[in-house]
Amino acid sequence: MNPFETTTEELRRAGEETLEILTGYWASIPGRRVVPAVTPRQMEQLFEGPVPELGMPLLDVVREVAEKVERNATAMGHPRYFAFVNPGTTSVAPLAEAMAAMFNQNLGAWRNSPSGTAMELQVVKWMAELLGMPEGSGGILVSGGSMASLTGLAAALRAKAPWDVRRLGLQGGSGPLTFYASEEVHRCVVKAADLLGVGEEYVRLVPVDSGFRMDMCALARRLDADRKSGAIPIAVIGTAGTVNCGAVDRLGEIADFASAESLWYHVDGAYGALAALSPTGKTLLRGMERADSIALDPHKWLFCPYEAGICLVRDPELLKRSFGGAAAYMKEDKDATSADGHRTDLFEYGPQLSRCFRALKVWMSLKAHGRRAYSEAIEEHLCLARLLDRKVLDHPRFELASEAQMSISCFRWIPEGARPDPDALDRLQDRITLGLERSGEGLMSGTRLSGRAVLRACILSFRTRESDLDALLESLDRIGHETWKGMK
Ligand SMILES: Cc1ncc(COP(=O)(O)O)c(C=O)c1O
Repeated sequence: MNPFETTTEELRRAGEETLEILTGYWASIPGRRVVPAVTPRQMEQLFEGPVPELGMPLLDVVREVAEKVERNATAMGHPRYFAFVNPGTTSVAPLAEAMAAMFNQNLGAWRNSPSGTAMELQVVKWMAELLGMPEGSGGILVSGGSMASLTGLAAALRAKAPWDVRRLGLQGGSGPLTFYASEEVHRCVVKAADLLGVGEEYVRLVPVDSGFRMDMCALARRLDADRKSGAIPIAVIGTAGTVNCGAVDRLGEIADFASAESLWYHVDGAYGALAALSPTGKTLLRGMERADSIALDPHKWLFCPYEAGICLVRDPELLKRSFGGAAAYMKEDKDATSADGHRTDLFEYGPQLSRCFRALKVWMSLKAHGRRAYSEAIEEHLCLARLLDRKVLDHPRFELASEAQMSISCFRWIPEGARPDPDALDRLQDRITLGLERSGEGLMSGTRLSGRAVLRACILSFRTRESDLDALLESLDRIGHETWKGMK
């Protein structure tokens, strides 16, 4: 008996058991602790043991996953999950993931997935249209926002450096190559600069204004000073929703600036680009559509499971110039294969050769839910963040730290009586964040704004309602009192 063959009956039984676990999990999400009450050591112990020498029945393996993983899962998608920029998934995309794994298409080369390639090209077209990019724009699906920014900035270097970066790397000329972004830019952009050989220091971090948006005068001054000292400015990066507080840079003004200065314009829209689907978001993001490249994340506001990112570009040929070129075994005579339409090999448009079928979950999500449902959900999140700001302002022990632009509200809990010194206040916010996690009642992340600790609530779950905001503030107020008592 071939150990890798499963009878249809065995597969069906294991599949039914899996579905039972999945539907049970789905129904349990709102009633769960957000973060399970477990320790790292307990979790390690669950998986310790020797490499299995002999296999066991699939049904038992599936049950072990339920016991060890489902039971101890963080409830992403919980209505009071307010931490990272992650909404959990709808029920559609997990089914897509199962199908993608079974079909196991390789979306690197057309012949390894004719339908998958066509679907990915269509998904990219839809996204470009939803974000208002011009006809003929293109792009590629990647693992997430970090890879999307890396991909866009790799294309920027190749398009804008005065020598052939692909052939000569950064050694083809002199004068440092520079990127420009606000101080609030996501770390992945700085990491991309490092990986591309530009170096972290050459991402010029431009100061922000009181709304945490890039200061355009400071940008112009920095660029001028760099040019005078022999640097070669390559790209300016605008952020469509910073991870700290959801600030949206002046995207139209950056587009004008980039065009006047002949710079590549990249938008990090990993968090916020998809807000363009909603009326309020569309207004906030005006100018984003003029970018040369945009990073966005279906695993955020399209409610897809990890991993799904997209790098959109105005000119897809620039991606091909950056990543194209086939090894001998991949080459084919395009003239002979193009009788009925052009064969696109997607590996030529991004850094990966073998590529999974990410497009399926994005395509199925849009088919099953439709644009309008997303537009309404995102609009609701933007409204809820503004509502949370107002609740914070009306509360005697909360203090607003930044005004919501996207769907993040940042604030502090301040004890009554004499105001503690700033360092004690910082420690207090950090401990309240941890206290909330330990309570299981919710999850937020703390962050720093203007160097000081704040509580940060990011609203992205399609299950979150106004009552969850009230419950959150109630939990935080109680935990704030308990924590402060313990600190005095
Ligand atoms: C503004 C911003 N950029 C980039 C990223 C990184 O995206 P990913 O985690 O998908 O790589 C995030 C993640 O939250 C983000 O909010």
